[in-house]
Amino acid sequence: MNRCLALLLALGATLTTGCCTHCCTKNGDKNMNIKQEPFGTTKNGKPATIYTLRNANGVEAKITNYGGIVVSLTVPDRDGNFADVVLGYNTLDGYIKKTPYFGALVGRYGNRIANAKFTLDGQVFNLATNNGPNALHGGIVGFDKVLWTARPLQTANGPSLELCYVSKDGEEGYPGTLTVKAVYTLTTDNGLRLDYTATTDKATVLNLTQHSYFNLAGQGNGDILNHEVVLNANAFTPVDGTLITTGEICPVKGTPFDFIKPHAIGERVNQQGDEQLKFGGGYDHNWVLNKGFEKQLSLAATVTEPKSGRVLEVWTTEPGLQFYCGNFLDGTITGKSGKVYKHRYGFCMEPQHYPDSPNKPLFPSVVLRPGDTYTHTMIYKFAVK
Ligand code: GLA
Repeated sequence: MNRCLALLLALGATLTTGCCTHCCTKNGDKNMNIKQEPFGTTKNGKPATIYTLRNANGVEAKITNYGGIVVSLTVPDRDGNFADVVLGYNTLDGYIKKTPYFGALVGRYGNRIANAKFTLDGQVFNLATNNGPNALHGGIVGFDKVLWTARPLQTANGPSLELCYVSKDGEEGYPGTLTVKAVYTLTTDNGLRLDYTATTDKATVLNLTQHSYFNLAGQGNGDILNHEVVLNANAFTPVDGTLITTGEICPVKGTPFDFIKPHAIGERVNQQGDEQLKFGGGYDHNWVLNKGFEKQLSLAATVTEPKSGRVLEVWTTEPGLQFYCGNFLDGTITGKSGKVYKHRYGFCMEPQHYPDSPNKPLFPSVVLRPGDTYTHTMIYKFAVK
């Protein structure tokens, strides 16, 4: 890593804006045109629901209030043929039994926290471990495995689903009672927009993201190696052999991590001799977005599938993006319509703060304090080429 620059980052990326009340009502507007159907029962015998949001272009998103999971997302190709472009299951049972976070709302902390512990205001907090010695994606029962209170809404932007969850003080080891709201909107211009907000009653750390696995050729239709990726990032955060960020920020120039110009995922993913690709088993890293730490919504990534012409744009207000190319998929999961998900059959684009930020003082802050409101907006926007 001697080619790397350990960049000194200004602390204190602003996570707080405005004010917002967090309330959830159990019943939505009855006049609205959002279909809701039963989606099985949880381990505790509680009923889950699946909501279908559809826009005027025929684009459709199915979302369940179990884990905030995006169960399907059906979008057209350049000839107007629709396909479901996210991996997952037809039934709740599938998600309960075995899932590598298919479609999930990830929290409280997306990605890894080293040794499942961090210090905040002089106090050490021990988290649940669920990835070797580390905490991954919120712990053993993260936000992807709880039932959210749902309220369908018709908005000027399109049909929406509001999900709310109150995470208890100490849940999975995290301090503070955290009240989280996630609003999913299927926009008139074919975007799935997510607006996250959260408040706390004690200082805590927070890094919410979304974990859909995309395959723009249609879920289950082969690997994603021909997908062409552009990432608006001149740098990334390298990891050690346990996938924990080293704390460095390294330029991508001259490495297989340079996606400033379009490259197929498969072009360099198996390049021999690259230590970072070896550690990740391929791409499984956080890119440092050129937008910096400003909260403005900016284009982070563009992914094109040449055969279908489907294009995915990823927009975010966050400073980082985890690009994971399904290295842990190994053919042991049979998903929707009996399709087997083999190695690299899906990729994730997870807008986020940098992994292990609670232990990396030079990374932008992920601390949320009482009286402040966490905000995070991301859009997965679909087009054709
Ligand atoms: C993330 C991580 C990966 C892996 C997947 C889930 O994207 O970065 O290392 O844990 O989630 O399988």
